[in-house]
Order: sequence, then structure tokens, then C-alpha cells
Amino acid sequence: METASTGPVEGHANVPATDQPLLEVRSLVMRFGETLVQEGVSFKVEVGAIFAIMGVSGCGKSTLLRQVIGLLQPAGGQVLYRGTDYWAGDIAVRTKLRSGCGMLFQSAALWSSMTLLENVCLPLEQLTKFDRGQREARAAEVLGWVELEKFGAYYPADLSGGMKKRAGLARAIAAAPPLLLLDEPSSGLDPISSKHLDDLILDVRKRTGAAVVLVSHELPSLLAIADGGIFLDADSKRPIAHGSPKELRDHPEHPTVRAFMLREDLPAQQGNAPDPNRREQAKSSR
Ligand SMILES: Nc1ncnc2c1ncn2[C@@H]1O[C@H](COP(=O)(O)OP(=O)(O)O)[C@@H](O)[C@H]1O
Ligand SMILES: [Mg+2]
Repeated sequence: METASTGPVEGHANVPATDQPLLEVRSLVMRFGETLVQEGVSFKVEVGAIFAIMGVSGCGKSTLLRQVIGLLQPAGGQVLYRGTDYWAGDIAVRTKLRSGCGMLFQSAALWSSMTLLENVCLPLEQLTKFDRGQREARAAEVLGWVELEKFGAYYPADLSGGMKKRAGLARAIAAAPPLLLLDEPSSGLDPISSKHLDDLILDVRKRTGAAVVLVSHELPSLLAIADGGIFLDADSKRPIAHGSPKELRDHPEHPTVRAFMLREDLPAQQGNAPDPNRREQAKSSR
């Protein structure tokens, strides 16, 4: 049987082509109750880009992804897909726009009672008109892309951390969404598995043409694959730098960006109180 072709899947509710950026975030405000997490977050992601969201633990990276994908409503600002305002739209508009995003959650978030093949079939059930045979063929195809073709009948509990991440990636890309959101895809992986995942992300972009928004603490990974980015500051609760990880490493204008990109401690005289999250990260990145 012929497997589904790469690229946008027939029946998939794609974001219509316009000359607007694939994703634009304008002056986003993130809050939990009275607590401000970030404000003034603005950036654009063009087709085919790999865009990095950087910053120390707790600065709001996962919250930002949740607001972009429509799981959490921003306290202000806009999330635009091809110029259409997600949060201003009705349920039909939101459902259509959300179907253009595939997300790999920080925890991979596979359904433990389902096999890998069933997990990867889920978005195809929701987003395509494929029959069961076509769904299984497509799921087997994308499991092959992440080198899990022999594990379709396994349950998540039987897999290593790296395999779960790869299975989560396969599920995120199954319906060939134009935008992929990856939350710390390589956290907890050894350097070789991490490099392998980078190569897979590049390979997926080549095969599907998807743009990728990537949250990562892994500098080698960020430097290797991201071509744009934003740095969110936990202290001022605002973005403090825009640019690719390479640009920010080579020209870090803010001391916090410099400390992150060059793995240095912040100068004590800056009045930067030791932040347990930042210390943890500084230790783990050595
Ligand atoms: N559901 C929630 N309710 C209240 N506070 C939250 C919730 N989720 C995250 N936070 C807080 O928001 C801040 C940003 O969290 P998060 O987006 O997970 O950061 P990051 O992904 O950058 O580590 C943290 O201070 C976190 O404790
Ligand atoms: Mg996070």
C-alpha cells in the first residue's frame, strides 16, 4: 500500500498561504492571577525557520508555547497565524489554526495506555480524513523517520527517555503541521542522543517544510540548529534580546544573556541575587 506522501497531508486544515509571517506574537502578556510572568513579548517566525525561545528555568518559555498553541489565554497581546488573530477568533477559527501546530511537550506526554502507533495515529484521527489503514501507514512512516519503526506495538513505559522524545516528535509531525513547537526536546538526553535529535529536527524540517519554535537549554543544540530567537529575562519579566543563538553568543549585550550564552556566572555587583533555578542551570550546563 502506498504510504501518505510527505508535506501537508490531504484533508489537513492548513493555515492559508498569505504574505504574512507564519506566526507573529505581538506584545504578549503572560500572567498567572496577579503574578506577571512576562510582558512585551513580540517576535515573528517565517516559513522554514527554526526559532529559539531562550531564558533560565521559570522565565516563562513553556507558558509562552502554551499560549501560542491555544492552551492558555494570554493576559494581553496577540498571537497571529498568517495575520489571523487566534484569541480574537471563534471556536471554529481557533480549531482550524490550532490544527496547524504540532507540539512536543516537555514530558513527551504520550498516552501510557496506547501503543506508539496508536499515539501517533491520534492527530491523524483528529486532523485528517484518512481511513484506519492510511492512518497506520502514515504513523509507521513517521515512526520510521525517528527510527522507531520496530517499536510501533510498544507502550511508552517500555521505552527509554530518548525514544519517548522521538515518539513525541513523531506524533507532533504526523499530520505535517506547518508549525512545530518543541519544548526542551533534548532535555535529559545524553549528548549523542541529543545531537541525534537535532539531526532529526533538521530532517523533519526538510521533509515537511515546517517552521519550528524550539525551547531549549542545550547550547550546542541551539547553536547548531536555530536561526533566530528571543531571550526572556526572569528578573525584568521582559525579553532582553532578539537574534539567533550565534548572534547572541557573539554579541551578548546584556549580562544575563552573556552569562547564559557563555556559561558564566553573573557579576555579583550587578545586584543579581542568586536564583536557585539559574544556579541549577549553570551547574547542569557545565
Ligand atoms: N499553571 C500555573 N499556575 C501558576 N503558575 C505557573 C503555572 N505554570 C507555570 N507557572 C509559573 O510561571 C512561571 C513560568 O513557568 P514556565 O513557563 O514553566 O517556565 P519555563 O518553561 O521557562 O521554565 C514560573 O514561575 C512557574 O512557576
Ligand atoms: Mg518549561
